[in-house]
Amino acid sequence: MTPRDFDTIAEESASSASIKAKSGMDRISIKGGRKLQGVIPISGAKNAALPLMVASLLTKETLTLTNLPELADIVTLAELLAQHGVSVDWDRANGAIAFKAGKINNTTAPYDLVRKMRASILVLGPILARKGLATVSLPGGCAIGTRPVDLHLKALEQLGAEIKLDKGYVHAKAPDGLHGAEITFPFVSVGATENIMMAAALADGESKLINAAREPEIIDLANCLTTMGAKIHGIGSDTLIIRGVKALGGGSHRVIPDRIEAGTYAMAVAATGGNVLLKGARMDHIGSLVEKLNEAGVKLSEADGGIQVSSPNGRLVGVDVMTEPFPGFPTDLQAQFMALMSLADGASMITESIFENRFMHVPELSRMGANINLHGGSAMVRGTTSLTGAPVMATDLRASVSLVIAGLAAEGETIVSRVYHLDRGYERVEEKLAECGAEIKRIGE
Ligand code: UD1
Repeated sequence: MTPRDFDTIAEESASSASIKAKSGMDRISIKGGRKLQGVIPISGAKNAALPLMVASLLTKETLTLTNLPELADIVTLAELLAQHGVSVDWDRANGAIAFKAGKINNTTAPYDLVRKMRASILVLGPILARKGLATVSLPGGCAIGTRPVDLHLKALEQLGAEIKLDKGYVHAKAPDGLHGAEITFPFVSVGATENIMMAAALADGESKLINAAREPEIIDLANCLTTMGAKIHGIGSDTLIIRGVKALGGGSHRVIPDRIEAGTYAMAVAATGGNVLLKGARMDHIGSLVEKLNEAGVKLSEADGGIQVSSPNGRLVGVDVMTEPFPGFPTDLQAQFMALMSLADGASMITESIFENRFMHVPELSRMGANINLHGGSAMVRGTTSLTGAPVMATDLRASVSLVIAGLAAEGETIVSRVYHLDRGYERVEEKLAECGAEIKRIGE
């Protein structure tokens, strides 16, 4: 696919109702105190969609993905794939994108695109497996911590790659192809598991990935690779056995619903005391959150192809949470849970064990009246009876949505700036909330 093809996508995105009006410096205004009532449709999962799109690099044939969310990160990755030579054909009427990497004509992923989104590092394994050569910019730091990629690189070396770091780029070579290996990850990494699973699918011989991540997004990728002809055993467990094949074929795959979006809206409902159906959400994907919300007093039940969430009339009870790899409590829901606990009756200890600097929302929530003390990797939240609206600043994707939750429950107006963080991961956020009765709107700079 030519870069021109991608231009078409970018233009289509720019003219779409949902992406068009969004400028990086937009702000969101929320007048709090409205209960949420109604139905919120849950979009396809961003974190499943990104590796699935990258999987298209593994085959000459067409991979069609449906239920892709329309988000800034999806457009950024489509742009990266297009510059590698992938044709990207967006069938908007059916919400599907067909990717065809007939030929990979550029094995370099440049800094300008990779720095926008860390998940770009996922192209390293697939391009290397297919072409024997790949150069990918190191992603660099981000707001929630240093987030190195050493696990990805070490595992690729175990598959036979020669890796050098030079001038901010990873240069990987495997002129005779990759070979199977037994790889034990020292700790669980979602991205490293995905990268290596894709590379091993085209390696010569069998690979065993021990201490692999088990997130629903990993299962979704493994299922899609299986459709494409990969031989993967142990899907859903922490040990994956992958028998490499010479070539993979195309296929069609529907992206799973976004469990983080579903969990976020469940907490928005809990914070406002409402009652909402999260259409399409899957209970088995958010078990750890459901457990904690039940403890706090929120009711969740399977209903009408989704999850019905209803909050009690009185205040919620403070409960403790520690983030862990799946099936533990997701780090991507920690900031939202903290916003909710700011209004609970009693104290809540929230411990972050995945990322070292994921408390950027604390000072912003405090400006709205939350009582939170940080002690290393833990936050002690002492619930208050009310929060007050304030101007606040989004610092990363999940931090920004925690401020939206706080704003929905607060007295008065909250203005969240730097909304571009939110646009990376939440499709039509203000529309979905407004349709359930929230007083929320996007305003210009
Ligand atoms: C993915 C998700 C992100 C989520 C995170 C943890 C996507 C696109 N992003 O990110 O939303 O918050 O999982 O559930 O799916 N680490 C290393 N070396 C490595 C790789 C990771 O030290 O080579 C560390 C990270 O800094 C972090 C921990 O391992 O402390 C887990 O990170 P990882 O699971 O790899 O997260 P991502 O795949 O980047």
